[in-house]
Amino acid sequence: MLLESLHDRKLLFIGGKGGVGKTTVASSIACGLAARGKRVLVASTDPAHSLGHLWRTSLNDTARQLAAVGNGSVDGVELDPRSTVERHLAGVEATMMSLLPERLHSAARSHILRAADAPGSHESAMLERVAETVENAQGVYDTVLFDTAPTGHTTRLLSLPDRLEGWTEQLLRSRDRSERYAATMQSIVTGRNSRNPESDLRKTLHRRKSRFATMRAMITDAEVCGFVTVTLAERMPLAECLDLIEDLRGLRIPIAGVVINRRSPRGESALLDARHRLETDAIEASKLLRTEAPLVEIPLLADDLTGEDAILRVAARL
Ligand SMILES: Nc1ncnc2c1ncn2[C@@H]1O[C@H](COP(=O)(O)OP(=O)(O)O)[C@@H](O)[C@H]1O
Ligand SMILES: [Mg+2]
Repeated sequence: MLLESLHDRKLLFIGGKGGVGKTTVASSIACGLAARGKRVLVASTDPAHSLGHLWRTSLNDTARQLAAVGNGSVDGVELDPRSTVERHLAGVEATMMSLLPERLHSAARSHILRAADAPGSHESAMLERVAETVENAQGVYDTVLFDTAPTGHTTRLLSLPDRLEGWTEQLLRSRDRSERYAATMQSIVTGRNSRNPESDLRKTLHRRKSRFATMRAMITDAEVCGFVTVTLAERMPLAECLDLIEDLRGLRIPIAGVVINRRSPRGESALLDARHRLETDAIEASKLLRTEAPLVEIPLLADDLTGEDAILRVAARL
């Protein structure tokens, strides 16, 4: 039922508290969709990447195939916002150097270095990388599935298209206004520079703005995008899961499913039966059952959940 709800959406986000099973569930959903013939890309945005570890391989910022399942496939990538920041600032630097007299070069360089470390630039670079991944997936993948960072990060990230026109513009505007090079940077950003009105940098900034606008339209369209929340059946994680669902509603991001992971199985032992009852009470006491989205439970499993076979076993339960 969960896979049916996800089947036709191009863009999926898997989110929840740290350690609840987001990476495991994301890869299992990917395999489930691949088994139905989809070409799926799983992209990790959690700085504490564990996608490669789950698949017993190493991944980086370039996508590669993890598995061929049925007529479909699962590729994986661990997004690295640092490389986006560096790539982008290298472009800024080249443009500035061409516009500034040599004596201002070293001051301009240190300005750029500070911009790279400014609060928010990492997060907005990640959003840019997410938007870029979605754009590049067109025609190559049927579904892009983001394995996201713990709750707070993800909702902040997804609200960025609303709040941000682009981190570079902000950084360039807000710092070192008194310096001569700041005026140059300002002119690069606003395009008032007659010497180089269509600079590569300005084109990059425009491309980013249009990416953010596309991204915003996609993440709020229930035919295109769905968010799957993952939680444990315990009071605190359940409360946090409901908060996340509220936040997503506020951002008008469609909820496509709820996964309650590591549910204690019944009939194994008195201990697990007691746990199961406590969990059922916690689920009922929460308002989670009122969420209008498919809800699936995955039992606590005894085996080591790494490698393709283990992931396929979890996928069979979705
Ligand atoms: N249903 C399950 N049964 C047993 N262990 C699980 C289950 N789901 C996840 N795990 C284990 O819990 C740990 C955290 O899972 P992971 O998917 O990495 O969580 P997250 O991505 O949310 O941090 C991993 O060691 C994983 O193998
Ligand atoms: Mg993870």
